Amino acid sequence: MIDPTTFRDVMAQWPSGVTVVTTLGPDGTRHGMTASSFSSVSLDPPLVSICLTRTLYSHELVAGSGVFGINVLAKDQAAVGRRFAGMEPGVEDRFAGETWTVAETGVPLLDSALGWFDCRVVHAYPGGDHTIFVGEVVAGRASGRSAPLLFHSRNWGQVADVLPDAATLADGGIVAGLAARGAADRAAVVAAGVGEAGIRVRVADLTAAGGGDVAVLPRTGPLPLSSALVGDRCQADRALDAGLGTVEVALDPGDPGSVDRVLRAVDGIEPRCAVLLADPFADHRLDPVLDTVTALARAGVGEIGLPDHAGRATPLQVRSLLQEVVALARPGQVRVGLHDRDRLGLVKAITALKSGVRHFDATLAGLDTAVATEDLIRLLDELEVGVPVDADAVELLARQVRNVPRHVPATGVSAERPVPPAAASPDAAEILGAAG
Ligand SMILES: Cc1cc2nc3c(=O)[nH]c(=O)nc-3n(C[C@H](O)[C@H](O)[C@H](O)COP(=O)(O)O)c2cc1C
Repeated sequence: MIDPTTFRDVMAQWPSGVTVVTTLGPDGTRHGMTASSFSSVSLDPPLVSICLTRTLYSHELVAGSGVFGINVLAKDQAAVGRRFAGMEPGVEDRFAGETWTVAETGVPLLDSALGWFDCRVVHAYPGGDHTIFVGEVVAGRASGRSAPLLFHSRNWGQVADVLPDAATLADGGIVAGLAARGAADRAAVVAAGVGEAGIRVRVADLTAAGGGDVAVLPRTGPLPLSSALVGDRCQADRALDAGLGTVEVALDPGDPGSVDRVLRAVDGIEPRCAVLLADPFADHRLDPVLDTVTALARAGVGEIGLPDHAGRATPLQVRSLLQEVVALARPGQVRVGLHDRDRLGLVKAITALKSGVRHFDATLAGLDTAVATEDLIRLLDELEVGVPVDADAVELLARQVRNVPRHVPATGVSAERPVPPAAASPDAAEILGAAG
């Protein structure tokens, strides 16, 4: 027979989620314990099972009351898991600091759980030193969040997505960045080069004062790989009619009416829309951001953008937010734009990749302290994540952009790469029609 140590060592290799099983004492007092033996048994009728050590107090209570609740713990609830496992010495009330709802059977269900079931015991089978309790599920609720707490190798863990096979890039900052450097005349040529290299580039900002006077649209550029920032349906139609592949619309998750306004503006063109959430990493924004992402995904918005213009995101915030957002946005894709002000831009990019992000917004040469497109491409290449871009062309363009002096309108071009004459790049007013 196998010895207990080997049995435990093998089981340690089996990862599980973590629940708190709640139940009632004879006098109606609440009790709870951490359990990872929770399993789904049957869909019709809905049955689940838990295996409890026969000597536990919780075992006595579940057997006596005939009811139990299953509370699925979220990724940041390791402390709750420890407390309900009796691993925190001195804790008298395991429920201290929690809020809960009393279920139909009378068991308490933790408000902070990712999801819960309210169950009545219908079978109890002997299982060695454990009892297998099978419960009929009388009610259940999922919180809508997705990232669970795990237990593996005798340790608490979280899901870390495997690195993807491929990622895509967009550049929403280069045209505006060059304009800010007083080099708007270069923007059309550089934008064309970025598009030709395989990166979607924002060529126009139709929301800008004057209806988009920084807009550039190369006549010969690959239009489907271009986008424009728009403020309303009229501007969106102008951009799409001109052949741009994507329109980008900004949305403030902190403004309750904002989702409805944006959804009305993009009605019928959702798959070609990227909705950019303003300041998504700001404090206390988690709930509005998650609610907004849920609403946009339901409406069929093709892309949800999280640009960190404010430069707030830390690697930890990137992980906390994106794990949830990526799951809620499906089947829509999430594109994240990270800053590099703290020199942690690439660290955050890896964190985002491990949190399920497959689409990035970066800026050529890192203008505006964004993560530099060429650095991101090198990182993805080292990680063996395929990026369908011409990396050499991007490097050359980045070198040219770095040579553009600040606030000094350029008169010549770098010798490294010949650029077409400016006449080949009419401005947005010519392509998109008169500014509105
Ligand atoms: C991650 C984790 C999972 C656990 N899963 C189970 C389980 O499925 N069944 C069990 O009997 N004990 C399990 N335990 C141990 C109980 O939580 C622990 O013995 C607890 O103190 C029992 O509470 P009680 O003595 O108040 O009944 C687990 C502990 C941890 C840390």
